[in-house]
Amino acid sequence: MSEFWDRVYKSDSTFFGEEPSSFANLSFNHMKSNNVKKVLEIGAGHGRDTMFFASNGLEVEDLDYSSKVINIIIKKAHEKKLPVKPQLFDVKEPLPFKDACFDAAYSHMLLNMRFSQHELHSIFSEIRCVLKPNGMNYFSVRNHNGQFHGSGVKVEEVEGIYDINGFEVRFFSEKEILDLMAKEGFKMLWMREEYEEPVTLYLVASIKLKKPIYVNVESHLEIFNYLRLHHFLQTHAKYMMII
Ligand SMILES: C[S@@+](CC[C@H](N)C(=O)[O-])C[C@H]1O[C@@H](n2cnc3c(N)ncnc32)[C@H](O)[C@@H]1O
Repeated sequence: MSEFWDRVYKSDSTFFGEEPSSFANLSFNHMKSNNVKKVLEIGAGHGRDTMFFASNGLEVEDLDYSSKVINIIIKKAHEKKLPVKPQLFDVKEPLPFKDACFDAAYSHMLLNMRFSQHELHSIFSEIRCVLKPNGMNYFSVRNHNGQFHGSGVKVEEVEGIYDINGFEVRFFSEKEILDLMAKEGFKMLWMREEYEEPVTLYLVASIKLKKPIYVNVESHLEIFNYLRLHHFLQTHAKYMMII
């Protein structure tokens, strides 16, 4: 599915190192204090963070569109007898899960890959669907303060993407992240900046909000009238019962 990433992992099956990322550590501590049990990791790579989560008691489902890494994860999980289910999957498609089945979603350095704005919104919206109420969404993306920002060649077909020596990336500003979350029904809990050689990242924890209400004038009036009636009934209930 991804020739590029298959080539990367073929030349080095532990391209991102064996140790979990510090974002995984940070997220795990937050997950623990929020009673997270089941996590969806998207763009899991060769599973350095997946194995860390699963070794520490979480149930993990992984998606990645490189068949090389899916095989690596299947093998590692089997050897270590860990509760990990990987699937070869392109996250540009609707996610292959029922609604509200994960306590948290996690992605490290995935969302700054070659995704259009429209695709980013749809990924967030899909994540929102598969999260339980108050589910957490942890993600990291490359940011404007990185040493490579401003270098590379603009990719004509996808606005905001740059090709830097064959890697196609987007650099996020704080405002872009906030906009994306607000429009897709997430509230930011914390955001930190971190250097993970050789890139500078924003690490974000966010929580799923209750369904956003899309207001048009008519439904707005309906809601307003309903609330007025509700208020009237509440304040007059005692009197009405006596009658
Ligand atoms: C920068 S790597 C990060 C890997 C891993 N999260 C880590 O930090 O070790 C990005 C990963 O996302 C995967 N990926 C990129 N685009 C994808 C897509 N559209 N659908 C699924 N996986 C994708 C790649 O195959 C790659 O494994």
